[in-house]
Amino acid sequence: MKIPPLRIGDLTVPLPIIQGGMGVRVSLARLVAAVANEGGIGTIAAVGLGDIEASKLDFERACREAFIYEIRRAKGLTKGPIAVNILGVLSNARDLIETAVREGIKFIVSGASLPLRLPEMTEDPSVNLVPIISSGRAADIVLRTWDKRYRRTADAVILEGPLAGGHLGFSIEQLQEPERYALALLLPEVLAAVKPFEDKYGRKIPVIAAGGIYTGTDIARILEAGASGVQMATRFVCTPECEVAPEFKRAYLEAREEDIVIIRSPVGLPGRAIRNRFLRSLEAGAREKIKCPYHCLATCNVAEARYCIALALVNAYQGNMEKGLVFCGQNAYRCDRIISVHDLIAELKAEIEAY
Ligand SMILES: Cc1cc2nc3c(=O)[nH]c(=O)nc-3n(C[C@H](O)[C@H](O)[C@H](O)COP(=O)(O)O)c2cc1C
Repeated sequence: MKIPPLRIGDLTVPLPIIQGGMGVRVSLARLVAAVANEGGIGTIAAVGLGDIEASKLDFERACREAFIYEIRRAKGLTKGPIAVNILGVLSNARDLIETAVREGIKFIVSGASLPLRLPEMTEDPSVNLVPIISSGRAADIVLRTWDKRYRRTADAVILEGPLAGGHLGFSIEQLQEPERYALALLLPEVLAAVKPFEDKYGRKIPVIAAGGIYTGTDIARILEAGASGVQMATRFVCTPECEVAPEFKRAYLEAREEDIVIIRSPVGLPGRAIRNRFLRSLEAGAREKIKCPYHCLATCNVAEARYCIALALVNAYQGNMEKGLVFCGQNAYRCDRIISVHDLIAELKAEIEAY
């Protein structure tokens, strides 16, 4: 297959691969810039960037300043396109979106709840708004709401299937039968859901497929099925450019398929992670005393949460596996070596071209 470029709004990139946002602090400037330099789009995950101590004093400001730092650092490393991923459930989502726009970011990706009010947070028409959805129905709800309330549509849609990493847009029951919600089955319903809005607004709304895409052959197959591009995350963790601690990458390299599990996150959504010492201690009934001075997630029930997920994700980033939650996609067990972003993308390109 000839590698098709990806067009979103006014921008065209030669490689139809978006590196998915990975919180907390998994997709930082170096990784993002490396992917953008290879012709794809890199995504900074905005969640949990603020220094924990500084956040206790002024949460919004600590997050904003760390986010600005990361955006500027990425811009210093690439002239390519940088996206930001801002979870709708963040209590400071609006502040982060306004900050990203002020910093000249042109792609805002938002998920983890339907981003129904996203257009209200930036009126700049040059900023591309990209909702993450997990079904045709969800795509329809978001696009219909945006059309009615804001007279605009999405610039692209990310369809995230059940094999993705981090928080998932499926119930625990649905995740028990992932074949029923395979990307190849969900894609036609999402393509059908965006079609009326493509017709109404007279432009294409690219559908980007995500979740479990691992090889160039996977990419070629889903492009052939009608996706305009893919979003990949897990495969970018085991690269030197990813700035997590070596212990985090080792957890991926050593994971067996049966170590990859679904958890109930305090955020109120299921998530996928590697069963490590931390998860085993929770399974054995451990409960942490949580002091929450800033309430970073609107949906976190602090009174009932058994641990602070923000802290557990920061711990993993720092390599503290006793207390660290390692998010991953279903295919993390297939990662068997550290490979540079350049070599990984060369491999993926060769596989797409060989298809
Ligand atoms: C470590 C990790 C952290 C993630 N964090 C986020 C996040 O903060 N926001 C988000 O929308 N998606 C997040 N995701 C999902 C990815 O952006 C992506 O859509 C998904 O993992 C793609 O599937 P793959 O990992 O199989 O390639 C995360 C995924 C991983 C592996």
